[in-house]
Amino acid sequence: GSGKFFVGGNWKCNGTKDSISKLVSDLNSATLESDVDVVVAPPFVYLDQVKNSLTDRIEIAAQNCWTGKGGAFTGEISVEQLKDLGCKWVVLGHSERRHIIGETDKFIGTKAAYALSQNLGVIACIGELLEEREAGKTFDVCFQHMKAFADAVPSWDNIVIAYEPVWAIGTGKVATPEQAQEVHVAVRDWLSKNVSAEVASKTRIIYGGSVNGGNCAELAKQEDIDGFLVGGASLKGPEFATIINSVT
Ligand code: G3H
Repeated sequence: GSGKFFVGGNWKCNGTKDSISKLVSDLNSATLESDVDVVVAPPFVYLDQVKNSLTDRIEIAAQNCWTGKGGAFTGEISVEQLKDLGCKWVVLGHSERRHIIGETDKFIGTKAAYALSQNLGVIACIGELLEEREAGKTFDVCFQHMKAFADAVPSWDNIVIAYEPVWAIGTGKVATPEQAQEVHVAVRDWLSKNVSAEVASKTRIIYGGSVNGGNCAELAKQEDIDGFLVGGASLKGPEFATIINSVT
């Protein structure tokens, strides 16, 4: 793999003050392998609660951000505000925002560039729909998502790529280790040809989509899987710890 193993927990639009307080306390008492970067992405409204109660061992990510400096943008959250709360990362290009909210490659790229300009790390999500996989377009779609990020950002130093096949997200249908590895290699190859060999070898490519405590170990063994982006299973502290500790 490339660089330090990276495991993110995307809590999506889940939780209450009480359930999050329990999850934070489970995470605070978990034993985590030291050689792993661990990040959780709570809903905006709980970021401050989590930052103020969670161990510093785990960094905080936001699930979205605005495209530029704050101002008259009703309902949006700026990168500056996220940084003020102690966020280190932002998840961008998630399939739920692409396909449910309708975010375009261009809009996502603008957000990524602005977040990076303010030193917020970007967890850049890519991945194909089931019909795109079935039509043999998996690589085309992933490369198009990659190109949109590449065209927008000045550097890949603070980016982690998350390959999340949409058909695997929240479905219990995890990609096989071979399916994930195949795409991770293709994405790394794309980086090598279109950005640089150095960026290709250094950039972490993590897998997301129905990762759980039972399937993480086999996936983690794959040469080009450098970690995970976990949804549902990240809402359970002990199971999330198992996934973190699947680092090989
Ligand atoms: O960001 C996380 C992914 O969408 C995966 O979600 O683990 O619930 O399938 P999931």
